[in-house]
Amino acid sequence: MSSHEYTPSSKFGKWFNDRLPLLTLANHLTDYPTPKNLNYWWTFGGILTFCLITQIITGLVLAMHYIAHADLAFESVEHIMRDVNYGWLIRYVHANGASMFFLAVYIHIFRALYYGSYKSPREIIWIIGMLIYFLMMATAFLGYVLPWGQMSFWGATVITNLFSAIPLVGESITHWLWGGYSVDNPTLTRFFSLHYLFPFLILGLVILHIWALHVPGNNNPIGIDIKKPSNDTVPFHPYIVIKDIFALLIFLIIFAFFVFFSPNILGHSDNYIEANPLVTPAHIVPEWYLLPFYAILRSIPDKLLGVIAMFAAIFVLVILPWLDTSKVRSALFRPIYKQFYWFLVADVLILGYMGAMPAEGVYLLIARVATAYYFIHFLVILPILGRKERTLNVPLSITEPVLGGMPNPSMAKAKSDKVKINSLG
Ligand code: HEM
Repeated sequence: MSSHEYTPSSKFGKWFNDRLPLLTLANHLTDYPTPKNLNYWWTFGGILTFCLITQIITGLVLAMHYIAHADLAFESVEHIMRDVNYGWLIRYVHANGASMFFLAVYIHIFRALYYGSYKSPREIIWIIGMLIYFLMMATAFLGYVLPWGQMSFWGATVITNLFSAIPLVGESITHWLWGGYSVDNPTLTRFFSLHYLFPFLILGLVILHIWALHVPGNNNPIGIDIKKPSNDTVPFHPYIVIKDIFALLIFLIIFAFFVFFSPNILGHSDNYIEANPLVTPAHIVPEWYLLPFYAILRSIPDKLLGVIAMFAAIFVLVILPWLDTSKVRSALFRPIYKQFYWFLVADVLILGYMGAMPAEGVYLLIARVATAYYFIHFLVILPILGRKERTLNVPLSITEPVLGGMPNPSMAKAKSDKVKINSLG
């Protein structure tokens, strides 16, 4: 039954639904027609929803014990680790959860890049996604300051100082952000307040993201439009639900490995030393998920231009639907794009590595080349490639490649039987 005609079976259900159509909404979500050729890369949206909820719940509990004061924050985190029942578990899930969240979001973004999910009519889904990604980075940065360790303090100092590069008003903005003349207690308290707020803004954006997704429906690995509901789709429940749960369980095994066996491997040991404004760490590095942007920032000798390049690296992603001029969505039918896609993946990994190295000598040189290539990919290669590339023939329906080009399933079966007989000799 389509969600438009849905009427609840019980009398109370009908009474309630006429006044607030929540049951119609639930019915729409479970019945939502999903392309039946979605692969496991499409399970990451669900995994991300799980990550966000986990971060909010563990964060709420941490906030019950954490003290947002420069003199007490570090000690209160130690108190959580040692004295609060399962405090160590809650903190490690929250800290490693941030990393897992970014791992999932990078897979989700690169999935969209590969299958062209950002193209018309899904531009708004993509742009809301970029807003979420930007807020995720801001939230993670703010959260990392809260334990008030050495990396917290110096990371906050480096990043807030970037604003001072803005001509004329830069210094005033930095002082305004700090709430004083250096990173200090007022900075910590406002960072805590915003770190608490942002995940709820992300939650609101996720609702809009999924709403915008449900207007055109999902893209799929073949990247062609499907008729809904039709033979090309299956209802979200139970088919996608069970597949998403299976993928989530695998994801949880990896998550649990970090939490229980290597909870500090993704962090920096300097953050177990209390913040000290008089001692600068040898290398100030952000968390791994921010490293590519950090490499872009440092690859430009001028501070202001570095900041501009860093924000431009995100902005080119925002306008990507208009930079990629190809009408064909999926990389499966774009042989040259597919190669450039993998160059981009390698480029971002190289940038990430360079972000962790000191900004000097050969590291700096490689970071500069990789930064240039990043922008060339989006601003030069994609617009030209879309016009020049000879794409492969795109199938007429998502069942065509599966059925060996036979639009009629019974004929396809006959064909596959013949193949089996032939292969048996
Ligand atoms: C909190 C973070 C996020 C959550 C919870 C989330 C959730 C989802 C969900 C549930 C779906 C549908 C299932 C799927 O395609 O995997 C989806 C699709 C999509 N998301 Fe996200 N998302 C997030 C962040 C992002 C980001 C950062 C981007 C990119 C900038 C993005 C771009 C997309 C696109 C383009 C689709 C359509 C995919 C398609 O149908 O092919 N999302 N998202």
